[in-house]
Amino acid sequence: MITSSAFTTSSVRRARRMKSVSKVNPNLDRLHSYPFEKLRQLFAGITPRADLKPIRLSIGEPQHATPAFIRQALADNLDGLAIYPTTHGTDAVRGAIAAWLQRRYALPAIDPATQVLPVNGSREALFAFGQCLIDGTRPGAKVLCPNPFYQIYEGAALLAGAQPVFLNNSAANGFASDFSGVTEDSWRDIQLVFVCSPGNPTGRVLDIEEWQQLFALSDKYDFVIAADECYSEIYFDDAAPPIGALEAAHRLGRTDFRNVVTFSSLSKRSNVPGLRSGFVAGDARILGEFLRYRTYHGCAMSTAVQAASIAAWNDEQHVAENRRLYREKFALVTPMLANCLDVALPDAGFYLWARTPLPDTEFARRLQAEYNVTVLPGSYLARENGGTNPGAGFVRIALVADTAECVEAAQRIVAFCREL
Ligand SMILES: Cc1ncc(COP(=O)(O)O)c(C=O)c1O
Repeated sequence: MITSSAFTTSSVRRARRMKSVSKVNPNLDRLHSYPFEKLRQLFAGITPRADLKPIRLSIGEPQHATPAFIRQALADNLDGLAIYPTTHGTDAVRGAIAAWLQRRYALPAIDPATQVLPVNGSREALFAFGQCLIDGTRPGAKVLCPNPFYQIYEGAALLAGAQPVFLNNSAANGFASDFSGVTEDSWRDIQLVFVCSPGNPTGRVLDIEEWQQLFALSDKYDFVIAADECYSEIYFDDAAPPIGALEAAHRLGRTDFRNVVTFSSLSKRSNVPGLRSGFVAGDARILGEFLRYRTYHGCAMSTAVQAASIAAWNDEQHVAENRRLYREKFALVTPMLANCLDVALPDAGFYLWARTPLPDTEFARRLQAEYNVTVLPGSYLARENGGTNPGAGFVRIALVADTAECVEAAQRIVAFCREL
């Protein structure tokens, strides 16, 4: 039997051997280990208390039930497995997405043929977009990322041969990205700007003035904006959904969505992270190139998944219920945690971004060991930049477990903090 450590050792050796004899892409060595790998190492040697059931609030994986009608739509369309899907997707799926965009963001007609593409979750699309868009052969090629950030942005930049440039989102500036802090020289080299709104992990939503500033900069320096909006449907006030990139563009008179592409997903909205379904939409010129790239990349969406996605995008009732569940959890948990941690309701999304009284890694490790509650150290989600890691001293708490478990986790965190 091969144990996992024996396997790891032999695969590392094999990888080293390969490196010395073959031409593996050297940019692979620039990739950072993933936050959950770091967490595994942080928890090495811990034996959590056996009397407390584990509660995992570290990974942003929705735990609410997948709606029955989405499961049914998938099951009803399994005949689709017998055919190769097209990269462009069916007219029906692009039509459903375009109609959803128009309803959700009060947009005029979106052309489903040229302004929308189905993707297998926003993660693969964010990564692939970097490979398609970035010209890593251009000296000094740069990609702008918020900090803390979703690590795929950095990986996409590095593997395309570009250098990520970070903009710290600190509590002092309300977790916003201060675009005026980017130097003229950097702007000239920046080819792609990743924006995450609502943000992971801070939950912050960009407002229309910030979009206006970013669009003006894009016009001046000709970079593309990749707007990651996978948390757009998890918000508090049903009457005030977060503004989206295309909505902002339209409201500011940019009807062709020049240099803007939005990335959206059913994973969080409809509790289907395993379906792997999302879309990209926006600038038709860029999407035409992305479609060309994707044809070679080989990431067409199965027609069974397309059918389930159409059902999901066409229904808002399950999404409203989903929001209600998150709202309930935030309403119960946030005041409890606020007794012992510096924490506030986010603008949107399902994370609490809480300041810790201990270094974030120590806080997470001890909480795991002493109370069997898993949270993610904020420093794992950010990079040292300008002499500071803006994630340090925070933990990300994903309110993904059910209400009773989230409340129990909050009680344990409060008990833990009181003992410090
Ligand atoms: C900010 C952000 N973007 C994108 C994704 C990818 O989601 P998916 O690939 O399921 O659409 C995630 C997943 O957690 C995320 O947190």
